[in-house]
Amino acid sequence: MNKIDELINAAKQAAKNAYTPYSKFKVGSALLTNSGKIFTGANVENASYGLTVCAERVAVFKAVSEGQKKFKAIAIYTNTKDYTFPCGACLQVLYEFSPKIQVLITNKSKKSKVFSLSQLLPYPF
Ligand code: THU
Repeated sequence: MNKIDELINAAKQAAKNAYTPYSKFKVGSALLTNSGKIFTGANVENASYGLTVCAERVAVFKAVSEGQKKFKAIAIYTNTKDYTFPCGACLQVLYEFSPKIQVLITNKSKKSKVFSLSQLLPYPF
C-alpha cells in the first residue's frame, strides 16, 4: 500500500473513535510527518458544545506533543457523499506548523480531493 492510501485508511479507522453524542458527525484525520510517521485524530465533543475539538486539531496536537512539528499531508475522512473541508481554526493551526502541507479530503467512496493549504487558507494570519 502506498503512503497516501495508508493515510486515507488511517483517517477512516480514526473516525470510528470519534466521540460525537451531540452531532453524530464522525470525522477522522491522519497526519503524515516529514519523518514518515502517521498521527491520527478524531473529533471529541463536549456537553458544553464550544469545547469540541475537531479531528484535524486532535491529530496536530498529538503529533506536536510528541515532538513532531513538520507535516507533509493530512487526510480527512467522513463517511458521507459530500467532502468535509477543515474549519478555519484547523487551517490556521495547520499553517502554524506546515504552511505547505497538502490537504486530502476523502469521502465514503475513499475518493480524495487534494488541495494545498494556501488554496484553502489564502490569507493566513
Ligand atoms: N468537525 C471536525 O472534526 N472536522 C471538520 O473538518 C469539520 C467539523 C467536527 C466538529 C463537530 O464535532 C462535528 O464535526 C460537527 O461540526
